[in-house]
Amino acid sequence: MTFDVATIRKQYPTLQQEVDGRRLVYLDSAASSQTPEAVLDAMDVYYRRLRANVERGVYRLSEEATGRYEAARARLARFVGAPSPDGVVFTRNVTEAINLVAYSWVRRRLGPGDAVLTTAMEHHANFVPWWHAAQDTGVELRIVPVREDFHLDVEAMEALLADGKVRFLALGHVSNVLGTINPLRELIALARAANPEVVVLVDGAQAVPHLPVDVAALDVDFYGITGHKMLGPTGIGALIAKPERLEQMPPFLTGGSMILDVSAEQVVWNHPPHRFEAGTPMIAEAFGLHAACDVLDELGMHEVRAHERGLVATFVDALVAADGVTVYGPTDPDQRSGAISFAVDGVHPHDLGAMLDSYGVCIRVGHHCAKPLMRWLGVNATARASLYVYNDVDDLAPLLEGIEAARRFFAR
Ligand SMILES: Cc1ncc(COP(=O)(O)O)c(C=O)c1O
Repeated sequence: MTFDVATIRKQYPTLQQEVDGRRLVYLDSAASSQTPEAVLDAMDVYYRRLRANVERGVYRLSEEATGRYEAARARLARFVGAPSPDGVVFTRNVTEAINLVAYSWVRRRLGPGDAVLTTAMEHHANFVPWWHAAQDTGVELRIVPVREDFHLDVEAMEALLADGKVRFLALGHVSNVLGTINPLRELIALARAANPEVVVLVDGAQAVPHLPVDVAALDVDFYGITGHKMLGPTGIGALIAKPERLEQMPPFLTGGSMILDVSAEQVVWNHPPHRFEAGTPMIAEAFGLHAACDVLDELGMHEVRAHERGLVATFVDALVAADGVTVYGPTDPDQRSGAISFAVDGVHPHDLGAMLDSYGVCIRVGHHCAKPLMRWLGVNATARASLYVYNDVDDLAPLLEGIEAARRFFAR
């Protein structure tokens, strides 16, 4: 399919709205993407036709709902190149996927004398669970710094790995603030060179929606995704794991569905992935996520990336050239994705966000759940415009207009 944004936009009911007579300019997909009709329809099928619990009914309605729930698992596995659907655990979001690993792997297996390595550009979802585990277990938390060019400091990382104590690496694929695409293969190879047994988790929240991702080719142990940033519903994410890793892990949450047998004397855990899906799962959301994978594959992930690469180049160039604007992140579009953080001289990001809202432009302002990175940047907050499949160059002029209006109003 050719990348015809006008046609694509028609599939998104929210984008048909006007704000004060202006086109709604949605530049906050890094926080949450919009929902296409196909995803809404898929969820409707569950509620209107197949409403029943899954994995437990013997009647046809429940069996069909179960079949579709499992089909969503297989669809997601195919979308991200997971080795097997058995390695796909549905979670509420990527935050829960990462906590699952923190509780069922790191806290169980690591202790004093071991280190977890993460980075200073992580979202709190891939930082706080390790910090918390370190507090509780005596594991040492090590943090790879960020260089002036907004990439991870590879030499510092080598030094942090040198003593071979790092047994777990937790790394973001794409930064939600800087847009930096991390060279995963190179960074993982460094960690494995220092300790061949190192276990690797990648936070793919900002990568899977925007880049072709092949988890098996990356050869990572765990890879987390979140549905609402990839055109899917809120309330569903997934942990993609090597099935043998899941086999080795005890459950995170316990209760119904995740057992084979229960008596007063013993409980026998179910096999993965069901061992990690206690209770009634997000059924309609799984249907919706299935449809989101279909929509993205129909567009083609290489085409999605090419579209965003072109657009991010235009937006970054325009922002760099705008008076009083500082962009935080790589300027080379090959090294970055479409989350563009910036500051406007003399204008607080929250004031800028409010001004842009009056132009119908939605951006994110704040610390972006990345306070260690904010500290490194030396700011409390930034503004962030982020791009996706339904954005085009027509979204740039209102952004620049709003920025200029904010400068005139606030930065006198
Ligand atoms: C890089 C990254 N990781 C994790 C998250 C957390 O996602 P969720 O709130 O869906 O768990 C986000 C959300 O902004 C993110 O950008």
